[in-house]
Amino acid sequence: MAEDNLSADLIMEGLETRLTGQRVLYYPSVTSTNEVAKQEAGQGAAEGTVIIAGEQTRGRGRMKRTWLTPEGNIALSVVLYPDASALSSLIMLASLAVVHSIESVTGLETQIKWPNDVMINGKKVCGILVESDVRGGKVNYAVIGIGINVNLKPEDSPEIQTIATSLSGELGVEVSRFSIVRHLLVELERLYLTLSPGGSVYAEWRDRLITLGKEVKVTDGENIYEGLAESVDKEGSLLLRSADGSLKKIVTGDVTLRN
Ligand code: BTN
Repeated sequence: MAEDNLSADLIMEGLETRLTGQRVLYYPSVTSTNEVAKQEAGQGAAEGTVIIAGEQTRGRGRMKRTWLTPEGNIALSVVLYPDASALSSLIMLASLAVVHSIESVTGLETQIKWPNDVMINGKKVCGILVESDVRGGKVNYAVIGIGINVNLKPEDSPEIQTIATSLSGELGVEVSRFSIVRHLLVELERLYLTLSPGGSVYAEWRDRLITLGKEVKVTDGENIYEGLAESVDKEGSLLLRSADGSLKKIVTGDVTLRN
Protein backbone atom coordinates (compact mmCIF):
# COMPACT_ATOMS: atom_id res chain seq x y z
CA MET A 1 0.00 0.00 0.00
CA ALA A 2 1.16 3.57 -0.65
CA GLU A 3 2.06 6.03 2.12
CA ASP A 4 -0.67 6.05 4.75
CA ASN A 5 0.70 8.24 7.49
CA LEU A 6 -1.78 10.96 8.35
CA SER A 7 0.56 13.21 10.35
CA ALA A 8 -0.18 16.91 10.02
CA ASP A 9 3.32 17.65 8.70
CA LEU A 10 3.09 15.09 5.92
CA ILE A 11 -0.36 16.25 4.88
CA MET A 12 0.83 19.87 4.68
CA GLU A 13 4.19 19.15 3.00
CA GLY A 14 4.22 20.67 -0.50
CA LEU A 15 0.42 20.85 -0.56
CA GLU A 16 -0.55 23.06 -3.47
CA THR A 17 -3.34 25.04 -1.86
CA ARG A 18 -3.71 28.60 -0.57
CA LEU A 19 -6.16 27.81 2.20
CA THR A 20 -7.27 24.24 2.78
CA GLY A 21 -4.68 22.25 4.65
CA GLN A 22 -2.20 25.08 5.17
CA ARG A 23 -2.94 24.48 8.85
CA VAL A 24 -3.70 20.89 9.88
CA LEU A 25 -4.43 19.59 13.36
CA TYR A 26 -4.20 15.81 13.64
CA TYR A 27 -5.75 13.92 16.55
CA PRO A 28 -5.13 10.17 16.91
CA SER A 29 -8.52 9.97 18.62
CA VAL A 30 -11.13 12.68 19.07
CA THR A 31 -14.84 12.94 19.84
CA SER A 32 -15.82 14.61 16.57
CA THR A 33 -13.68 16.58 14.12
CA ASN A 34 -16.67 18.85 13.45
CA GLU A 35 -16.87 19.65 17.15
CA VAL A 36 -13.18 20.60 17.29
CA ALA A 37 -13.45 22.56 14.03
CA LYS A 38 -16.35 24.57 15.43
CA GLN A 39 -14.33 25.41 18.54
CA GLU A 40 -11.39 26.42 16.35
CA ALA A 41 -13.64 28.57 14.16
CA GLY A 42 -15.11 30.23 17.24
CA GLN A 43 -11.56 31.23 18.18
CA GLY A 44 -10.87 32.67 14.72
CA ALA A 45 -8.82 29.83 13.22
CA ALA A 46 -7.33 30.56 9.81
CA GLU A 47 -9.65 29.81 6.91
CA GLY A 48 -8.93 26.34 5.54
CA THR A 49 -7.81 24.92 8.90
CA VAL A 50 -8.26 21.15 8.78
CA ILE A 51 -9.03 18.92 11.73
CA ILE A 52 -8.33 15.28 10.99
CA ALA A 53 -8.63 12.25 13.25
CA GLY A 54 -7.32 8.70 13.36
CA GLU A 55 -10.64 7.72 14.92
CA GLN A 56 -13.73 9.47 16.24
CA THR A 57 -15.45 8.35 19.40
CA ARG A 58 -18.60 10.44 18.96
CA GLY A 59 -18.75 11.11 15.23
CA ARG A 60 -21.91 12.90 14.21
CA GLY A 61 -24.06 12.34 11.16
CA ARG A 62 -26.92 14.23 9.57
CA MET A 63 -30.26 14.34 11.36
CA LYS A 64 -28.62 13.74 14.77
CA ARG A 65 -27.36 10.29 13.85
CA THR A 66 -24.09 8.69 14.91
CA TRP A 67 -21.25 8.29 12.42
CA LEU A 68 -18.83 5.41 12.94
CA THR A 69 -15.14 6.14 12.33
CA PRO A 70 -12.95 3.27 13.44
CA GLU A 71 -9.23 3.45 12.58
CA GLY A 72 -8.28 3.15 8.90
CA ASN A 73 -10.91 5.57 7.63
CA ILE A 74 -11.06 9.31 7.03
CA ALA A 75 -12.75 11.81 9.33
CA LEU A 76 -11.87 15.40 8.62
CA SER A 77 -13.40 18.84 8.94
CA VAL A 78 -12.49 22.11 7.26
CA VAL A 79 -13.11 25.59 8.69
CA LEU A 80 -14.41 28.15 6.17
CA TYR A 81 -15.74 31.70 6.31
CA PRO A 82 -17.95 31.90 3.21
CA ASP A 83 -20.31 34.64 2.14
CA ALA A 84 -23.93 33.89 2.96
CA SER A 85 -24.60 33.51 -0.76
CA ALA A 86 -22.13 30.60 -0.94
CA LEU A 87 -23.43 28.67 2.06
CA SER A 88 -25.85 26.40 0.22
CA SER A 89 -23.14 25.50 -2.29
CA LEU A 90 -20.90 23.94 0.37
CA ILE A 91 -22.87 20.69 0.44
CA MET A 92 -22.63 20.48 -3.34
CA LEU A 93 -18.94 21.25 -3.58
CA ALA A 94 -18.04 18.87 -0.76
CA SER A 95 -19.73 15.90 -2.43
CA LEU A 96 -18.17 16.80 -5.78
CA ALA A 97 -14.71 17.10 -4.21
CA VAL A 98 -15.16 13.64 -2.69
CA VAL A 99 -16.29 11.97 -5.91
CA HIS A 100 -13.47 13.59 -7.91
CA SER A 101 -10.90 12.46 -5.32
CA ILE A 102 -12.15 8.90 -5.04
CA GLU A 103 -12.31 8.55 -8.81
CA SER A 104 -8.80 9.98 -9.31
CA VAL A 105 -7.14 7.84 -6.65
CA THR A 106 -9.01 4.56 -7.07
CA GLY A 107 -10.72 4.65 -10.47
CA LEU A 108 -13.98 3.57 -8.77
CA GLU A 109 -17.21 4.99 -10.19
CA THR A 110 -19.19 7.01 -7.66
CA GLN A 111 -22.63 8.59 -7.51
CA ILE A 112 -24.23 11.24 -5.31
CA LYS A 113 -27.54 10.51 -3.59
CA TRP A 114 -29.43 13.65 -2.63
CA PRO A 115 -28.43 15.63 -0.75
CA ASN A 116 -24.82 14.58 -0.31
CA ASP A 117 -24.26 10.87 0.25
CA VAL A 118 -21.51 9.49 -1.93
CA MET A 119 -22.37 6.01 -3.11
CA ILE A 120 -20.60 3.13 -4.85
CA ASN A 121 -22.67 0.30 -6.31
CA GLY A 122 -25.72 1.44 -4.35
CA LYS A 123 -24.00 1.58 -0.96
CA LYS A 124 -22.82 4.58 1.01
CA VAL A 125 -19.08 5.21 1.10
CA CYS A 126 -19.04 8.79 2.40
CA GLY A 127 -21.19 11.09 4.50
CA ILE A 128 -20.93 14.86 4.72
CA LEU A 129 -22.13 17.12 7.50
CA VAL A 130 -22.00 20.88 6.95
CA GLU A 131 -22.57 22.97 10.08
CA SER A 132 -22.59 26.73 10.24
CA ASP A 133 -23.06 29.65 12.59
CA VAL A 134 -25.18 32.33 10.96
CA ARG A 135 -26.34 35.47 12.77
CA GLY A 136 -28.26 38.36 11.32
CA GLY A 137 -27.69 37.06 7.81
CA LYS A 138 -23.91 36.95 8.32
CA VAL A 139 -22.01 33.66 8.29
CA ASN A 140 -19.63 33.61 11.26
CA TYR A 141 -18.21 30.28 10.12
CA ALA A 142 -19.01 27.07 8.31
CA VAL A 143 -17.51 23.66 8.88
CA ILE A 144 -17.50 20.94 6.23
CA GLY A 145 -17.18 17.53 7.89
CA ILE A 146 -16.37 14.56 5.67
CA GLY A 147 -16.31 10.90 6.65
CA ILE A 148 -15.04 8.39 4.08
CA ASN A 149 -15.08 4.65 4.60
CA VAL A 150 -11.63 3.83 3.29
CA ASN A 151 -10.54 0.58 4.89
CA LEU A 152 -13.73 -0.10 6.84
CA LYS A 153 -14.88 -3.71 6.92
CA PRO A 154 -18.67 -3.36 6.87
CA GLU A 155 -19.02 -6.93 8.13
CA ASP A 156 -17.40 -5.77 11.42
CA SER A 157 -20.22 -3.25 11.94
CA PRO A 158 -23.55 -5.13 11.68
CA GLU A 159 -25.60 -1.91 12.04
CA ILE A 160 -24.34 -0.60 8.69
CA GLN A 161 -23.35 -3.79 6.91
CA THR A 162 -26.21 -3.79 4.41
CA ILE A 163 -26.10 -0.10 3.54
CA ALA A 164 -22.41 0.86 3.67
CA THR A 165 -19.35 0.01 1.66
CA SER A 166 -15.72 1.13 1.70
CA LEU A 167 -13.02 1.76 -0.87
CA SER A 168 -11.04 -1.30 0.19
CA GLY A 169 -14.23 -3.37 0.21
CA GLU A 170 -14.87 -2.41 -3.42
CA LEU A 171 -11.27 -2.82 -4.59
CA GLY A 172 -10.23 -5.83 -2.53
CA VAL A 173 -7.01 -4.11 -1.37
CA GLU A 174 -6.22 -1.52 1.30
CA VAL A 175 -6.33 2.08 0.09
CA SER A 176 -4.08 4.97 1.10
CA ARG A 177 -5.98 7.50 3.20
CA PHE A 178 -3.10 9.91 2.66
CA SER A 179 -3.61 10.04 -1.12
CA ILE A 180 -7.35 10.58 -0.76
CA VAL A 181 -6.87 13.35 1.83
CA ARG A 182 -4.34 15.23 -0.30
CA HIS A 183 -6.55 15.09 -3.40
CA LEU A 184 -9.54 16.09 -1.34
CA LEU A 185 -7.93 19.20 0.13
CA VAL A 186 -6.83 20.42 -3.31
CA GLU A 187 -10.23 19.70 -4.82
CA LEU A 188 -12.18 21.32 -1.98
CA GLU A 189 -10.21 24.49 -2.41
CA ARG A 190 -10.44 24.51 -6.20
CA LEU A 191 -14.22 24.25 -6.08
CA TYR A 192 -14.54 26.69 -3.16
CA LEU A 193 -12.53 29.33 -4.98
CA THR A 194 -14.74 29.04 -8.06
CA LEU A 195 -17.63 30.36 -5.96
CA SER A 196 -16.12 33.74 -5.12
CA PRO A 197 -15.99 35.21 -8.64
CA GLY A 198 -19.65 34.23 -9.10
CA GLY A 199 -19.04 30.66 -10.28
CA SER A 200 -21.32 27.76 -9.45
CA VAL A 201 -21.04 24.05 -8.77
CA TYR A 202 -24.81 23.55 -9.04
CA ALA A 203 -25.03 22.14 -12.57
CA GLU A 204 -22.37 19.48 -12.06
CA TRP A 205 -23.83 18.47 -8.69
CA ARG A 206 -27.37 18.22 -10.15
CA ASP A 207 -26.16 16.19 -13.11
CA ARG A 208 -24.38 13.69 -10.86
CA LEU A 209 -27.35 13.01 -8.59
CA ILE A 210 -28.64 9.46 -9.02
CA THR A 211 -31.88 10.48 -7.32
CA LEU A 212 -33.40 12.57 -10.09
CA GLY A 213 -36.02 11.06 -12.37
CA LYS A 214 -36.80 8.32 -9.84
CA GLU A 215 -39.86 7.55 -7.73
CA VAL A 216 -38.68 8.13 -4.16
CA LYS A 217 -39.74 8.22 -0.54
CA VAL A 218 -38.27 11.07 1.52
CA THR A 219 -38.23 10.79 5.30
CA ASP A 220 -37.69 13.90 7.40
CA GLY A 221 -38.30 12.98 11.03
CA GLU A 222 -42.00 12.16 11.29
CA ASN A 223 -42.75 13.50 7.81
CA ILE A 224 -42.78 11.16 4.85
CA TYR A 225 -43.20 12.37 1.29
CA GLU A 226 -43.52 10.25 -1.85
CA GLY A 227 -43.32 11.18 -5.48
CA LEU A 228 -41.08 11.73 -8.47
CA ALA A 229 -37.74 13.39 -7.68
CA GLU A 230 -38.09 15.91 -10.49
CA SER A 231 -35.21 18.29 -9.90
CA VAL A 232 -33.19 20.27 -7.38
CA ASP A 233 -33.12 24.04 -7.04
CA LYS A 234 -30.00 26.19 -6.81
CA GLU A 235 -30.13 26.16 -3.00
CA GLY A 236 -29.94 22.36 -3.07
CA SER A 237 -33.57 21.60 -2.16
CA LEU A 238 -35.24 18.58 -3.74
CA LEU A 239 -38.30 19.26 -5.90
CA LEU A 240 -40.72 16.38 -5.52
CA ARG A 241 -43.75 15.90 -7.80
CA SER A 242 -46.58 14.21 -5.90
CA ALA A 243 -49.24 11.98 -7.44
CA ASP A 244 -51.74 14.88 -7.22
CA GLY A 245 -49.47 16.95 -9.47
CA SER A 246 -48.26 19.37 -6.81
CA LEU A 247 -44.57 20.22 -6.48
CA LYS A 248 -43.04 20.12 -3.00
CA LYS A 249 -39.72 21.69 -2.05
CA ILE A 250 -37.82 19.53 0.44
CA VAL A 251 -34.87 21.06 2.26
CA THR A 252 -33.67 18.04 4.21
CA GLY A 253 -34.41 14.34 4.52
CA ASP A 254 -33.38 10.81 3.65
CA VAL A 255 -34.22 9.43 0.25
CA THR A 256 -35.02 5.83 -0.56
CA LEU A 257 -36.11 4.52 -3.93
CA ARG A 258 -39.71 3.30 -4.13
CA ASN A 259 -40.39 -0.16 -5.53
C1 BTN B 1 -24.05 11.66 7.32
O1 BTN B 1 -24.08 11.05 6.26
O2 BTN B 1 -24.93 11.47 8.18
C2 BTN B 1 -22.96 12.66 7.60
C3 BTN B 1 -21.77 12.02 8.25
C4 BTN B 1 -20.65 13.02 8.46
C5 BTN B 1 -19.48 12.39 9.19
C6 BTN B 1 -18.28 13.30 9.28
S1 BTN B 1 -16.84 12.47 9.83
C7 BTN B 1 -16.00 13.98 10.01
C8 BTN B 1 -17.00 14.95 10.59
N1 BTN B 1 -17.05 14.85 12.04
C9 BTN B 1 -18.24 14.41 12.47
O3 BTN B 1 -18.54 14.23 13.66
N2 BTN B 1 -19.05 14.20 11.44
C10 BTN B 1 -18.42 14.51 10.18
